[in-house]
Amino acid sequence: HEADAHRTDLMTITRFVLNEQSKHPESRGDFSILLSHIVLGCKFVCSAVNKAGLAKLIGLAGETNVQCILVSEEDEEAIFVEPSKRGKYCVVFDPLDGSSNIDCGVSIGTIFGIYMMKDSHEPTLDDVLQPGNNMLAAGYCMYGSSCTLVLSTGSGVNGFTLDPSLGEFILTHPDIKIPKKGKIYSVNEGNAKNWDGPTAKYVEKCKFPKDGSSPKSLRYIGSMVADVHRTLLYGGIFMYPRDKKSPNGKLRVLYEVFPMSFLMEQAGGQSFTGKQRALDLVPKKIHERSPIFLGSYDDVEEIKALFYAAE
Ligand code: AHG
Ligand code: MN
Ligand code: MN
Ligand code: MN
Repeated sequence: HEADAHRTDLMTITRFVLNEQSKHPESRGDFSILLSHIVLGCKFVCSAVNKAGLAKLIGLAGETNVQCILVSEEDEEAIFVEPSKRGKYCVVFDPLDGSSNIDCGVSIGTIFGIYMMKDSHEPTLDDVLQPGNNMLAAGYCMYGSSCTLVLSTGSGVNGFTLDPSLGEFILTHPDIKIPKKGKIYSVNEGNAKNWDGPTAKYVEKCKFPKDGSSPKSLRYIGSMVADVHRTLLYGGIFMYPRDKKSPNGKLRVLYEVFPMSFLMEQAGGQSFTGKQRALDLVPKKIHERSPIFLGSYDDVEEIKALFYAAE
């Protein structure tokens, strides 16, 4: 993609978002403003993570708020924006995913999802306790050897790479589609002792295939953003199953499971909780967890069959 980055008609994320907006002539542009604030936030985190000196981004919040509720993994309670500054969107986000990897320089990321308020009444938690199906947009930014932002607004998945010399995200991975089947499985094998039956059976199949095919490779980075990004581009399956110690697994529904499931489905993959399609879940609490099996369509089909057979 190097050549693309030096073409003159650069497709930046700003242009991309405005092109999307032009498909909705009735829109006032609030959604585009919201996405541009999220993009700016990612640039801010990228510079902080790369210790490239904190850009003095004053007024980062901006005068026009376009969201009305914020749910962050790092805040116990949802943040309700003051009435005068309120917009019609709700943002759920994991500002720093893979935090155990920060000190050793391994890729970390930011994950986000956007809902529309249920209707223009006084905002309540019900406006964010919506099934993943209702998400309007989702994405992540991965801070690794390069800063890559992957975004879907409901019509496919596109990847953008930050060009630090321009301070712009450039479209480098247009219309990402996940391979239908992969050769990689990604799970924390250290929890194997406590896995449920179908999970243990599936992983056994990956390591000792009965049909004469070659075993899958294990790749586990420990940052969901990095493990999901690799799965999206190379194919395979990423799992955080439930186990005896954590009956709902570890990953959070609103700002880890839903955004990544949204992206996987938009890229032609799928995402399963062990009981149902992940995006069909209706969360009851803003920080609730769910087991997750996501990735290549055929690989997730296999594990679904094992769970349904065990019912
Ligand atoms: P966070 O840093 O936002 O708490 O997320 C960490 C998550 C996720 O990034 C990753 O997939 C998972 O924790 C790894 O958990 P284990 O170390 O238990 O495998
Ligand atoms: Mn955490
Ligand atoms: Mn996380
Ligand atoms: Mn986090």
